[in-house]
Amino acid sequence: MDDLVSVTDFEALAEARFSDMTRALVQGGAGDEDTLRWNREAFGDVRLRPKVLVDVSKIDTRLRLLGVDLPFPVLLAPTAFQKMIHPLGEEETARGATNSGALLVVSSATNTRVDRIARVARGPLWFQMYVQSDRSFVADLVREVEEAGCRALVVTVDAPVVGSRYRQMRVKFQLKPGLETPYMLDLNRGTHSLLRGGNSRMTWPDIEWLQSITKLPVILKGILHPDDAERAVKANVAAIIVSNHAGRSLDTVPATISALPQVMERVGDRIPVLMDGGIRRGTDVLKALAYGAKAVLIGRPYLHGLGVAGAAGVARVVAILRDELEQAMALTGRTSLASIDRTVLWDPM
Ligand SMILES: Cc1cc2nc3c(=O)[nH]c(=O)nc-3n(C[C@H](O)[C@H](O)[C@H](O)COP(=O)(O)O)c2cc1C
Repeated sequence: MDDLVSVTDFEALAEARFSDMTRALVQGGAGDEDTLRWNREAFGDVRLRPKVLVDVSKIDTRLRLLGVDLPFPVLLAPTAFQKMIHPLGEEETARGATNSGALLVVSSATNTRVDRIARVARGPLWFQMYVQSDRSFVADLVREVEEAGCRALVVTVDAPVVGSRYRQMRVKFQLKPGLETPYMLDLNRGTHSLLRGGNSRMTWPDIEWLQSITKLPVILKGILHPDDAERAVKANVAAIIVSNHAGRSLDTVPATISALPQVMERVGDRIPVLMDGGIRRGTDVLKALAYGAKAVLIGRPYLHGLGVAGAAGVARVVAILRDELEQAMALTGRTSLASIDRTVLWDPM
């Protein structure tokens, strides 16, 4: 692992080691994967502005987010089926999250129950879910998540149906035999397939209902358009995550770093805005913060770490991004997150 110096070094090695099924799951996007590609390319179109002769001997990346103190603004995004990648799956990821100090968002498509993950994790957990059609199932799940000590609910809103993921369709994607998905009710009942699936009836009143049955902050993940962001603020959600599901849902929507500025203009500082999609470098994190995101999430990068070296790989990927963020802050003359604004960018607008 010592030879792997960047997040993309982990990707190259993981991709080579994955089975065809796992490669299609982790690497694939929807359609022609234009959005998947743009998520990366768009970061390259944003230029940074260096600043010299600033005392940058102390860099502080701490933040407080929805009542949780975090050492740095990079979270682990919810990702499905981690036992396809490592035999210990989500528990191994939780160990990596703990060792690196990163907040982990557990996916509702986990292969491991949340209490088992919570037993391993020392750091904060959030739980990602869909409001499925069976409300008593959802209410029970919320209780289980609360009892496990999760600190927020993340509702994914950009996947009422699953996008056309050609790579997964070509390999006839299936879970390895024996793997469980304890929280995917419709899947367990055989009423939806991994490739077609969906909770296609979820609408705004479901969000209101969810808020009424929990005291946990409710975060919406998968907002891309300013109108939806505005509606989310009006719905009193605690935060939003600007995301296009890593290009796995609707192909040809814009890159998240391209959509973020317009969302920020509309939301302002009324609620925290987070973003994910294509973060591979510390400079990417800095750019997202410069546009106003409070924090970012990574998906594939830590799955690559998990595939290469389990918990140690997850922690190493996070450490690389953390170091690179601090370097980028130093080289742009910023010593705290509060000092990062659009003037970090060469073309602030
Ligand atoms: C293999 C894989 C599985 C994912 N599973 C979920 C999921 O279960 N729920 C969800 O909200 N998002 C899921 N996502 C999307 C991630 O939460 C996140 O939005 C995305 O991975 C960020 O982009 P990045 O992979 O470029 O960092 C998944 C992404 C990948 C790559």
